[in-house]
Amino acid sequence: MSIIILRVENLIKKYDSLYALNGASFEVKEKELFALLGPNGAGKTTILRIIAGLTNPTSGKVYIFQKDLLKNLIWAKSQIGIIPQHINLDLELTIEENLFIHGLLYKMPLSLIKKRINELLEFAGLNERRDSKIKELSEGLKRRVLIIRALMHQPKILLLDEPTAGLDPHIRRKIWSLIKNIQTRGTTIVLTTHYMDEAENLADRVAFIFSGRIIEIDTPQNFINKLGSYALDVYFSDELKTFYFNEKTAAEKELIKYSKNYFVSLRKITLEDVFLQYVEKRL
Ligand SMILES: Nc1ncnc2c1ncn2[C@@H]1O[C@H](COP(=O)(O)OP(=O)(O)OP(=O)(O)O)[C@@H](O)[C@H]1O
Ligand SMILES: [Mg+2]
Repeated sequence: MSIIILRVENLIKKYDSLYALNGASFEVKEKELFALLGPNGAGKTTILRIIAGLTNPTSGKVYIFQKDLLKNLIWAKSQIGIIPQHINLDLELTIEENLFIHGLLYKMPLSLIKKRINELLEFAGLNERRDSKIKELSEGLKRRVLIIRALMHQPKILLLDEPTAGLDPHIRRKIWSLIKNIQTRGTTIVLTTHYMDEAENLADRVAFIFSGRIIEIDTPQNFINKLGSYALDVYFSDELKTFYFNEKTAAEKELIKYSKNYFVSLRKITLEDVFLQYVEKRL
């Protein structure tokens, strides 16, 4: 039986009259990779920041290993590593110095700090660059440093806020591999992303969040199956419309019909279709 490592219960976060979160609830199993997906402003970062103890909810609870986060804040912070949406490394310091400072902030013994730095630089393939200043690094390498810095104090749960935003496809895959390796070594991961292929490839389960509420949670494949198997894109003059089918023969029939007047394309359904369907329903 899988252990629930993280439970988020009815979170509400208000900024003046704006509800950033409006009753968000979900559970994450130990060693799972759980992805939060939703449009800009849906509340993803707010959820991660509350779980990391960086901001308090207006109401609602977070439990880590069944312990109330706010009642065990110092302990909870030791169990969690957060990788922010925006790179907040010290640009003038080297990779090693950035990791070192994190160790000091978490009150790790010096011998452990040195050991962890060596392990993590090796793990992320950054050993040769340990003395490089952050400002000299490519965006992909900065993201790597950001990830291993959050692992310095050996957190049980890693929160990744858009870990591959703005990276090229080759570097994104390298980061995916790093993330999967972190999960394989036993860390539970909650990540947010706007790249549906990323969630489809990495996540065990995904949650769709709209307007501060979790709408539905399932595996990427189950979400796709619920929509069907084939997607037919029809490029009408004023909009691109997609039709979904379970059977290929039915899709091909429509393909022939529409191709007389429009550009059409038949393909497999992806998680991006699921996301777009939710957006359309809400519009
Ligand atoms: N400090 C703040 N003060 C006021 N409003 C805020 C603050 N932080 C977030 N918000 C608002 O709360 C809502 C949720 O923001 P949040 O950053 O959690 O969304 P998100 O899902 O992470 O979006 P994105 O995909 O763009 O990163 C948004 O409407 C945002 O403008
Ligand atoms: Mg965000």
